[in-house]
Amino acid sequence: MVAHSRLPLLVLLSLLTVVSAHNITDILAADPQYSDFNNFLTQTRLADEINTRQTITVLVLNNAAFSAVADKHPLSVVKNLLSLHILLDYFDNTKLHQITNGTTLSTTLYQTTGTANGNVGSVNITDLKGGKVGFGSAASGSKLDSTYTKSVKQIPYNISVIEISAPIIAPGILAAPPPSADLNITALIEKAGCKTFASLISTNGLVKTFQSTADKGLTIFAPNDEAFKARGVPDLSKLTNAEVVSLLQYHATAKYLPVGSLKTTKDAINTLASNGAGKYDFTVSSAGDSLTIHTGVDSSRIADTVLDSTPLSIYSVDNVLLPPELFATSPSPAPAPEPASSPSPSSAPTPAEAPSPLPASPPAPAGDTPAGSPADAPSSAAERSTSAGKSSGVHVKASAVLTVTVTALSALLISTTFM
Ligand SMILES: *[C@@H]1O[C@H](CO)[C@@H](O)[C@H](O)[C@H]1NC(C)=O
Ligand SMILES: *[C@@H]1O[C@H](CO)[C@@H](O)[C@H](O)[C@H]1NC(C)=O
Ligand SMILES: *[C@@H]1O[C@H](CO)[C@@H](O)[C@H](O)[C@H]1NC(C)=O
Ligand SMILES: *[C@@H]1O[C@H](CO)[C@@H](O)[C@H](O)[C@H]1NC(C)=O
Ligand SMILES: *[C@@H]1O[C@H](CO)[C@@H](O)[C@H](O)[C@H]1NC(C)=O
Repeated sequence: MVAHSRLPLLVLLSLLTVVSAHNITDILAADPQYSDFNNFLTQTRLADEINTRQTITVLVLNNAAFSAVADKHPLSVVKNLLSLHILLDYFDNTKLHQITNGTTLSTTLYQTTGTANGNVGSVNITDLKGGKVGFGSAASGSKLDSTYTKSVKQIPYNISVIEISAPIIAPGILAAPPPSADLNITALIEKAGCKTFASLISTNGLVKTFQSTADKGLTIFAPNDEAFKARGVPDLSKLTNAEVVSLLQYHATAKYLPVGSLKTTKDAINTLASNGAGKYDFTVSSAGDSLTIHTGVDSSRIADTVLDSTPLSIYSVDNVLLPPELFATSPSPAPAPEPASSPSPSSAPTPAEAPSPLPASPPAPAGDTPAGSPADAPSSAAERSTSAGKSSGVHVKASAVLTVTVTALSALLISTTFM
């Protein structure tokens, strides 16, 4: 085989075009002065977020400057603080000294958490006299009490890592965020343009579940109001109460998943609707900074981060997420209730019946039937409907292939690198 020896190189080249070209952990590992900053980037999973962004600047602090604040605060506060040091733009030494009018504001990752009001999530960069560049919070009345000290690493125009002298402190950023259970989740979701979803979770008793889970790790994917008006959205009045509850539970997972985690998670994600009889899971794919959820029936872009406050995250999504367990056979007009209403002779629970209020879900009924059957039936039905020609279905398959390819290629790259 002639091609054999050339294959790894080809694979490597294609890998570089698919996977992000930078690894902040590796970049900072080169200098032990940044080990604290680096460790916290990993612990907070901000490293994943940095690696998957295409244009970014990291304002790094040495161990002495960083530990002065990091040591005194809980991880949730340190995460917010670190987020304020990650600029969503590219600034290297040259650009810092060529700022138009000598001063500018840059948006940071903190701005994307939903917890920063006004200018609190931005950083003021000002070219001071004598070649010095000052950094401070963009909130009015803040001082520029941090300065550029040196350039650490540049990959133009993707990532720039520069050292600054002192942490940038925005007003209120060092106060511990309120416990997630104290946040009014309904109000947050409403305010984000998801009134229909907010009202559905209230009337179906899910708010209580959400509020009580929020402190242990919870991620909510709230469809916006447009999503409920879209064509092909199932008529909720044709579903049983249990099915509506499952559909709503399908929009949340009992895990804290910040954007960085969503981008790197390749496995299917279980939801609050997952139980012994139905998988009720979905996968997430990413392309650049955009994230897409694939249910097997439909797919939806994640539109906005409504809140990212460890251990609770809330996103708005463009489409109602349709689980195959309820909608596999015919996505639009007639959903699954049919098998549920006609009692089948066998004792096997149909997937449509199975979803029950979340905390109960005893594994017992699933055990009555051959292990494979309840789980397999809906998923193969989903595959059938997927290949039946819906364009979103094609999408699901293509991205699945891509994910698998990237995983395999990463494994190859890692083994190549360390040989
Ligand atoms: C910068 O990012 C783009 C888009 O991800 C990529 O195509 C390019 O190769 C990267 N540049 C470098 C120097 O790594
Ligand atoms: C980045 O580098 C670190 C340390 O070498 C490694 O553990 C990690 O898996 C890398 N991340 C990616 C996304 O390649
Ligand atoms: C720079 O200053 C001029 C004059 O004050 C103003 O018109 C212009 O909009 C400023 N440019 C930027 C990028 O702020
Ligand atoms: C940045 O801060 C300085 C000092 O407070 C201020 O004069 C300047 O207008 C600020 N820059 C911007 C773009 O707001
Ligand atoms: C939360 O907000 C909703 C909607 O704004 C409101 O109806 C509800 O009373 C609030 N709940 C609490 C506990 O404050």
